[in-house]
Amino acid sequence: MAVLKLSMVCFLLFILHSNAQTLSLDFYSKTCPSLAKTVSDTTARFIYAAPSLAPALLRLHFHDCFVDGCEGSILLNSTSNNTAEKDAIPNRSLRGFQVIDAVKLEVEKKCPGQVSCADILALVARDAVSQIKGPFWKVPLGRRDSRVSIGSRALTNLPPPFFNITQLIASFASKGLSVKDLVVLSGGHTIGVSHCSSFTTRIYNFTGRGDADPTMDPNYVTELKKVCGPTDTTTIVQMDPGSSKDFDNDYFSIVKKRRGLFQSDAALLNNAETSKYIQSHSFNQFDKTFFSDFAESMQKMGSIGVLTGTAGEIRRVCSVVN
Ligand code: HEM
Repeated sequence: MAVLKLSMVCFLLFILHSNAQTLSLDFYSKTCPSLAKTVSDTTARFIYAAPSLAPALLRLHFHDCFVDGCEGSILLNSTSNNTAEKDAIPNRSLRGFQVIDAVKLEVEKKCPGQVSCADILALVARDAVSQIKGPFWKVPLGRRDSRVSIGSRALTNLPPPFFNITQLIASFASKGLSVKDLVVLSGGHTIGVSHCSSFTTRIYNFTGRGDADPTMDPNYVTELKKVCGPTDTTTIVQMDPGSSKDFDNDYFSIVKKRRGLFQSDAALLNNAETSKYIQSHSFNQFDKTFFSDFAESMQKMGSIGVLTGTAGEIRRVCSVVN
């Protein structure tokens, strides 16, 4: 009887272990010891040639994690009977998929069938940001890849640029992220670009009467109008004009000056906690607490809804299920 009980306990422990929702830094230490170097070297080749890919890769990771967790569903292609997340409207401006594919190819050469695309994306985003002299954060590993990617889930899970502060806080809270995470991670907008179409309503037709958002600096509205026509869908502008390739504290001074590009940026002035963070980080360019805060929040974001244990699969090619 005692033996039976013991084997039952062992079996239960085995089940619990195989489904455990934990990631670990040494997850691939035996199955792919060269992983970190392979990912970092391959990413560096791309970033060296085109530093503007760093913001694209950071955003790719964010859009993966917010839609059903960091499980690589953003990387899957649509099929004849399914529109994948990649093809949903908010994701059509995503870039950098070729970097993930190239890194996966290199990793597969060294450790076939071992490393998930979700882990590769998390590592590439971190490496790309740190390679442009941005913050570095630890990436616990062990994510597995989903077998599904549903376009409509992107629409319901990604915060759009016109969200107000209440909606933004609720969106982040639904992913287990705090108000502080919201303001810190929005600081990711210190790098990268936006299409005009993401904010033209704000500068041309805010309330449907041909007006601009009164919370945006009117001089900035004028500047933006010179670059973006009302129906422009192709032009891109830097979100942190002049230093959109540098990961710095500029985002917070921009928002403070009412020059944040999206309503979601401006909205951060409408809450005591987010506004306080903006005020205190907009003065000192050498204040590195933003970097350590960003690192902490990225680790949290990177663990949203992960698949572990025996859930999902390890995709062989990131854009298709096995
Ligand atoms: C708080 C809610 C957020 C909203 C509403 C938002 C919205 C947007 C929009 C509309 C764009 C421009 C897309 C385009 O037109 O090309 C963009 C770009 C970007 N976002 Fe966000 N975002 C948010 C949070 C985040 C977070 C949490 C991160 C990362 C930690 C992030 C990183 C980026 C980056 C790096 C870009 C530039 C991408 C590139 O250069 O290709 N965003 N975001």
